[in-house]
Amino acid sequence: MSAVFQQLVAWQRQHGRRGLPWQQSADPYRVWLSEIMLQQTQVATVIGYYERFLAAFPDVEALAVAPVDAVLALWSGLGYYARARNLHRAAQQVVALGGFPRTPEGLQALPGVGPSTAHAIAAFSWGAPVAILDGNVKRWLARWLALDADLSQKPVHEQLWQQAQALVPADASHAEMVAYTQACMDLGNLRCIRRQPRCDDCPLQSSCAAHAQGLQQQLPRPKVR
Ligand code: ADE
Repeated sequence: MSAVFQQLVAWQRQHGRRGLPWQQSADPYRVWLSEIMLQQTQVATVIGYYERFLAAFPDVEALAVAPVDAVLALWSGLGYYARARNLHRAAQQVVALGGFPRTPEGLQALPGVGPSTAHAIAAFSWGAPVAILDGNVKRWLARWLALDADLSQKPVHEQLWQQAQALVPADASHAEMVAYTQACMDLGNLRCIRRQPRCDDCPLQSSCAAHAQGLQQQLPRPKVR
């Protein structure tokens, strides 16, 4: 089992973000809704929207039969309204399927669900041993590996997916996958931030290649334009 996996699970339980409304349930509907809201919006903003949305649409069936205008009204202020339209269409597809898909591939076929979001939903909902790779994870992984490359290039992106998946043990438990997946997000948000990363409080400091070389401020390398 990878040391990084265990270190991040332990760190999340001590220092990660806990007690958020969507962390109270492994219901795929709630997990999916929160992940879509969190795609482009900060946690503090999402909390109120998430609670109002769930009060109006407590399950995927309620969302599927709602008029799209009612969905957009509850999204008002969150921005990126394509998310709300996709959410509504996805709810109708889920109901037509008879329930949420039980594989990451099935989840990814829903409108608005990309590879990393599909993996996050699968890990949080039923503990699938799959990695996520959002902007936060790309940053800390590139630093941890001291990967001096343009992360927007497809081969580099694919290499990072492989590296991310290699950190996840195939026999991880559901509870471990919940903590690990949240840790991946929290590490990038709370410690391995873009500027002035907080290396002194980072659980991966001793194995971080960028830190060993003093390159944490230089990496990841800015996109070539
Ligand atoms: N960004 C995307 N999903 C998130 C989550 N579950 N917690 C915090 N930030 C996130």
